[in-house]
Amino acid sequence: MGGLPRRATYIAQEKATEPESLILDSGNFVTDRPLAEPSLDAVNAKTRLLVGAMERMGYSAAAIGEKDLNLGLDRLLTFSGATRVRFLSANLTDDKGKTWFDPYLVARVGGISVGIIGLTGTPSDSRLLEQRAPGARIADPLQAARKTVKEIREKCGLVVVLSNIGYSRDLELASSVPGIDIIVSGGTKRFMRRPLIQGRTLITSGYYEGRAVGRLAVQVDGPGKGWISKEEIQFMDKQISEAEAGAGTPEGKAKHDALLEKRSAVRELTVYEPDMVNLDPSYPDDPQVVGMISDYRKELKSTAAGSAAPAGFQDAQQVRYTGAEACGRCHEARYRFWQTTPHSEAFGALAPKEAEADPDCIGCHVTGYMRRTGYWPKAPREDLRGVQCEACHGVGSLHIQDPQLYSLLHLPAAPQCMDCHTESQDDDFDYFRDRSLVCSEAIH
Ligand code: HEC
Ligand code: HEC
Ligand code: HEC
Ligand code: HEC
Repeated sequence: MGGLPRRATYIAQEKATEPESLILDSGNFVTDRPLAEPSLDAVNAKTRLLVGAMERMGYSAAAIGEKDLNLGLDRLLTFSGATRVRFLSANLTDDKGKTWFDPYLVARVGGISVGIIGLTGTPSDSRLLEQRAPGARIADPLQAARKTVKEIREKCGLVVVLSNIGYSRDLELASSVPGIDIIVSGGTKRFMRRPLIQGRTLITSGYYEGRAVGRLAVQVDGPGKGWISKEEIQFMDKQISEAEAGAGTPEGKAKHDALLEKRSAVRELTVYEPDMVNLDPSYPDDPQVVGMISDYRKELKSTAAGSAAPAGFQDAQQVRYTGAEACGRCHEARYRFWQTTPHSEAFGALAPKEAEADPDCIGCHVTGYMRRTGYWPKAPREDLRGVQCEACHGVGSLHIQDPQLYSLLHLPAAPQCMDCHTESQDDDFDYFRDRSLVCSEAIH
């Protein structure tokens, strides 16, 4: 969500210079992770925020992603009914084969009709689907696409599929379902730097973890017998002007003619210009979206304060998170050292963003997130704020009772750190360098 206010600024700038554009999402916009049951209320609030932001940014349509179903069909239908953003899926059906959402949308852009079809991926865990979205079936996406394309091809100058079925199935889709011009590929973390042309279909991807936005300019005026990039045309023109100089000789003329012929065949093709726009800090935050995020986080904080943890969650006596202070009673020097490290202040770092109750953030900024006796978001233990001893060494109560009998981890290993120091949060994390900084070895 960090990228949302920047994305809003970027899209507003684009819309100002290029009003004839469509803003689309290929699904999993709610979340790209499986959701724990207790976080559903928060995710519901977040979806309200995201859909509101998408509406403000001027999104036309979004495919229902496989992961979006975690939110539940009812909730998705409610959101869908309350927003101008059109949620699409041609293959999410009830048990009689009737689609729950519009299978497609036809939009007028730049004087042509663009047909937009949504496809939902198949969840890897079918039990979760049954539990979260009873009544939802994921029909074969290729078959659904074939049927829908047939229905709308005639009336559309361009047919776009917002696909959440994953890259390898997108390749199948392109090769086995004729009549699709563009596939916006989602559903996997695959990031395409450049579009791939397969037959008459162009496959591209949208944004990547909100850090970059895929932009595709398309010039539709010919019969559309395939694709050529603006870059290739420029290269061809350069070759032609170079060949012109040598056109005095017979071979030179033959080469020049061949190039001209190739150049005139371009008229049959559709010209595209791809771009992957990195949302770096040169795009300032859109103040309205920043305000929406702040309201959302305030709402989370106030609901968190009013609700209770499940019975038995905090009163398990035997094995319990104790908090760092308790460790400090015996490991005084380590405790004092830890207090000088950023880990001890990790929760405080969320305050300027008012993210102290945002489930997208707190997991890595507290100790024992969603674990028994750990930091439970609905009844948060203040003494477990920040990344404390037990986040690395393990749950401490037994050790405190009898250190000789119950050992904790001597040397927390790299994967433990990398639960939080993920590639996307900290791309230059180096375990061997960094571990000496977190819990000084020299002191005991
Ligand atoms: C529960 C999540 C979590 C775990 C586990 C964790 N960290 Fe961190 N770490 C953080 C957070 C969050 C920050 C940022 C704190 C801040 O700046 O407010 C951080 C900051 C740091 C920093 C200082 C900032 C930087 O990147 O230079 C170092 C060094 C570091 N961690 C190393 C480690 C090592 C080594 C391990 C494993 C032994 C580890 N961390 C385990 C969450 C974690
Ligand atoms: C997957 C774990 C993880 C999640 C989720 C996470 N963080 Fe962090 N955060 C880290 C780690 C690790 C660091 C330290 C990395 C570094 O400094 O390079 C960090 C550092 C920070 C810092 C201090 C350093 C800085 O960049 O100024 C802030 C502020 C912060 N995170 C806020 C957030 C917010 C807000 C969210 C939710 C949108 C969030 N974090 C979600 C792991 C996480
Ligand atoms: C971010 C992870 C992290 C946190 C937080 C952390 N430690 Fe450590 N701790 C380590 C690592 C890694 C080592 C091993 C350091 C090394 O040898 O380079 C270690 C070593 C130790 C050791 C020595 C183990 C031995 O074999 O002798 C003790 C004791 C210890 N930590 C206690 C604590 C206490 C008490 C706290 C809280 C005040 C704490 N640690 C917080 C990661 C952490
Ligand atoms: C009552 C005093 C006491 C408290 C409280 C205490 N420890 Fe220890 N800790 C010890 C002693 C004594 C040892 C050495 C045990 C040994 O050598 O067998 C030790 C050893 C360790 C070690 C090295 C590995 C091991 O278990 O031998 C780690 C890591 C550690 N403690 C972490 C912690 C953490 C984290 C906490 C807080 C949850 C904590 N300790 C609380 C007394 C304590």
